[in-house]
Amino acid sequence: MSVYNFWSKIRSVKGSSVIKRLLIFCVILVGSLLFLSSLLASDEEDWKVRERIIENLQFFGKSCLEGQDCGVAAPVYIAGQPTGTGLSGKGVYDKYCFACHETGVNEAPLVGAETWAPRVEQGMDVLLQHTKEGLNDVMPAMGTCGQCTDAELEAAIEYLITGEDNS
Ligand code: HEC
Repeated sequence: MSVYNFWSKIRSVKGSSVIKRLLIFCVILVGSLLFLSSLLASDEEDWKVRERIIENLQFFGKSCLEGQDCGVAAPVYIAGQPTGTGLSGKGVYDKYCFACHETGVNEAPLVGAETWAPRVEQGMDVLLQHTKEGLNDVMPAMGTCGQCTDAELEAAIEYLITGEDNS
């Protein structure tokens, strides 16, 4: 039905009751409001809302895909001096280091493995520094043992290298 036909229809209602004309007026009003609101809710707005939802969700937990860096290496420093754990080298290893160094995830050198040789050449100071600061985003700072003292970390490193607990 063309606009012209529609208009003449409304005109033809002229003689009839006021209520009928008011009804037609209302139908047109509601129709155009719906049309206008659909124009306002543009795609751009939609995307903004979606982005905000995604941002909010990320607050609770970042999803990460296979092959992406999932931020394993977040530093776990605890304010102040480490108080120590009272654990032996193997004790620290069993509690904090084994998850990676037992499985070799991200090529973490395994306990007593030959792959330690070139690393050992760097000297204990460098090994300890890399343990405390973390390395290449895959070895976490303090090896996740925020309370470990230098001596405890060194004992754990020695256990990692030799597979023997002398502490
Ligand atoms: C989240 C996994 C993870 C944990 C937990 C972890 N490591 Fe590592 N570590 C790695 C990876 C991976 C490497 C190899 C890093 C590289 O060479 O890029 C590594 C390397 C090292 C190295 C060699 C550094 C060098 O300079 O070559 C030392 C020493 C070490 N870790 C000690 C520890 C100790 C001690 C702990 C526990 C207190 C520990 N790690 C806990 C993953 C881990």
